[in-house]
Amino acid sequence: MFRFSGPPPLSLYIHFPWCVRKCPYCDFNSHALKTELPEHAYVDALLADLEQELPDVWGRTVQTVFMGGGTPSLFSAAAIDRLLSGVRARVPLSPDAEITLEANPGTLEQGKFAGYRAAGVNRLSIGVQSFNDEQLRALGRIHDAAEAWQALLAARAAGFDNLNLDLMFGLPNQSVDAAIDDLCTAIELRPEHLSWYQLTLEPNTLFHAQPPPLPSDDEKWAMQESGQSRLAVQGYTQYEVSAYARDGRRCRHNLNYWRFGDYIGIGAGAHGKLTDAAQGVIRRRWKKRHPRDYLASAGSDDRVEGQRQLDADTAVFEFALNRLRLREGFTPADFNAVCGLVPARITPLLERAVSEGLLTLDDDRFRHTPHGWRFLDNLIERFLAEENRHARGHAD
Ligand SMILES: C[S@@+](CC[C@H](N)C(=O)[O-])C[C@H]1O[C@@H](n2cnc3c(N)ncnc32)[C@H](O)[C@@H]1O
Ligand code: SF4
Repeated sequence: MFRFSGPPPLSLYIHFPWCVRKCPYCDFNSHALKTELPEHAYVDALLADLEQELPDVWGRTVQTVFMGGGTPSLFSAAAIDRLLSGVRARVPLSPDAEITLEANPGTLEQGKFAGYRAAGVNRLSIGVQSFNDEQLRALGRIHDAAEAWQALLAARAAGFDNLNLDLMFGLPNQSVDAAIDDLCTAIELRPEHLSWYQLTLEPNTLFHAQPPPLPSDDEKWAMQESGQSRLAVQGYTQYEVSAYARDGRRCRHNLNYWRFGDYIGIGAGAHGKLTDAAQGVIRRRWKKRHPRDYLASAGSDDRVEGQRQLDADTAVFEFALNRLRLREGFTPADFNAVCGLVPARITPLLERAVSEGLLTLDDDRFRHTPHGWRFLDNLIERFLAEENRHARGHAD
């Protein structure tokens, strides 16, 4: 059904499912650590997991590695070193691979960053969230603003020249000025990359069950408008909904997700997406979510919680869902390369979006208009199967 000239670029995602405690807004697969960290057993389980994935990626080179969580920085530098050595022994890693680790400023004892750097990590993503101590307490964070600063300085001292800071806005009781102050502090620290997220109330979180008083929509809009212009003036280009980077410092790993590239996912609850170009299929596979179940099934097929093959409608929608988050837009050839489908499948829909002022078409590249960017959800929904069929029906 799908025809590929070859598989897309390949990444590796490694999930670490533990945190010191659970933040009240977070719905990631993260569990408060109640016993000692089973560091050794977990690295063994990850490497066994990777080994079992190998037949599906034979001969392919991994371009980026992302260790995310949860809190990977709970793990010692020695454990990360053993893990990355094990990865290198099992899959070809590109010599210029981007290797990111997510770090929580409350988990960084002296010397840890230098150890990560020596293990081969070349990009750190530091979860700051806010530089306001009162706000950090309201968010249930385990660190204060001074520790966040310290983390950044320690990362620089350890030789990291590629840093991301995670910051959120639209926080409980936050004024527009306070949100912009936070952002300006982050910019002063000159990270290469900033992920600036609007706080969302996710189902199955404490904040969802007991919502804190949040800024109004108008205030959140004002934060976003003012923040974006400050970021732009300071040389941070927005390239995705929440991602801003200095020149040449976009996150290659996340770019590969958003461009609908391939990735192996190992670790508790990790998702993977792999293209089998010869068979003409795209598969998603996900692992047991609870760390206890994941560890118990290490080395066996039971570690896989589920697997499915994408049909064409789903591939089209997932492509749009990811690719339209990127400001760079895309060409019909980009669509064909990663979806293995003829561009005619989506051109009627794209042309309609152009005629309605949501997209532009220049040099064969579809990009958002400011209006299309503002109503991104509406644009993406059009790619849901029904809409897609409807649009094709009109074209026939
Ligand atoms: C998986 S967390 C990893 C970072 C690390 N565990 C930490 O918190 O320091 C990735 C980022 O997602 C963001 N995030 C988590 N929950 C969110 C929510 N409900 N709304 C907006 N951003 C959120 C936070 O900025 C967080 O740093
Ligand atoms: S935001 Fe980070 S530290 Fe907090 S629970 Fe989620 S993954 Fe853990």
